[in-house]
Amino acid sequence: MNPRRAAILREMGYTPLWRLRGLAETVPAAAPQPAVEPAPPGLPAREEAPPAQVSMAPPSRAEVPPAIVRPARPAVAPAGVPAAAQPDPQRDARIATLDWDALDAEITACRACGLCERRKQAVPGVGDRAAEWLFVGEGPGAEEDERGEPFVGQAGKLLDAMLAALGLARGRGVYIANAVKCRPPGNRTPEAPEIAACNPFLQRQIDLLQPRIIVALGRPAAQALLGSEVKIGEVRGKVLRHGSIPLVVTYHPAYLLRNLPDKAKAWADLCFARDTLRRLGADA
Ligand code: URA
Repeated sequence: MNPRRAAILREMGYTPLWRLRGLAETVPAAAPQPAVEPAPPGLPAREEAPPAQVSMAPPSRAEVPPAIVRPARPAVAPAGVPAAAQPDPQRDARIATLDWDALDAEITACRACGLCERRKQAVPGVGDRAAEWLFVGEGPGAEEDERGEPFVGQAGKLLDAMLAALGLARGRGVYIANAVKCRPPGNRTPEAPEIAACNPFLQRQIDLLQPRIIVALGRPAAQALLGSEVKIGEVRGKVLRHGSIPLVVTYHPAYLLRNLPDKAKAWADLCFARDTLRRLGADA
């Protein structure tokens, strides 16, 4: 973006500007939140969206009292879902004992659901194994499948910009994982049985990491972590819980690439997560 356009957007209050990695810095400022809450994302099959450069407005937010939501196995498999892994307590118990390297190896070799058939490789996770922040996405896309690292496509570039706006970076205070570790064909939304089959891996990542806060990126990630159906519009702005760990839900970066006005809400969610973390630190 040229400096004149950036200045105009700043004057209009459309800041900070999140741009794709390598294009520009973030500009902090405040601006009004959109008055009307649009419908939450419907989460169609994910696609790699074209690069976007976006203005963001961090609105003020009234904090909602904490809600306790207990994790459980994801429910509700839509009709037509292929046969998937049956609950396997022995497998779950074994995964729950693995260290990081053994866990990554187990994920890499996993054949517990049909997603293994068409993946190029599984994508375990990436980042700082002592991170305070855990970001959880939906599942690998084409580029992640190719490279074996989460969020390396356009959505990932936006995620990196969002992290940078918070003073974070992948590998520095942040761990990034997905609800499912193998790419759903055509970037479709992962099915409940696939999420269930992968859930012990995500749970073990959480147990090893012990993050101070979890951010769920999009509805499938939120459902995987909460073990229940959710609507993004209903859970945003609340401190939920995964076990005892605070959980904040926001939009998926791929959705934000297609719905630019909702970046303001995502920025508000991230500020809310940061403030929640600070407040917890102050209370400790
Ligand atoms: N979208 C996700 O949810 N995860 C990735 O790793 C990449 C895109």
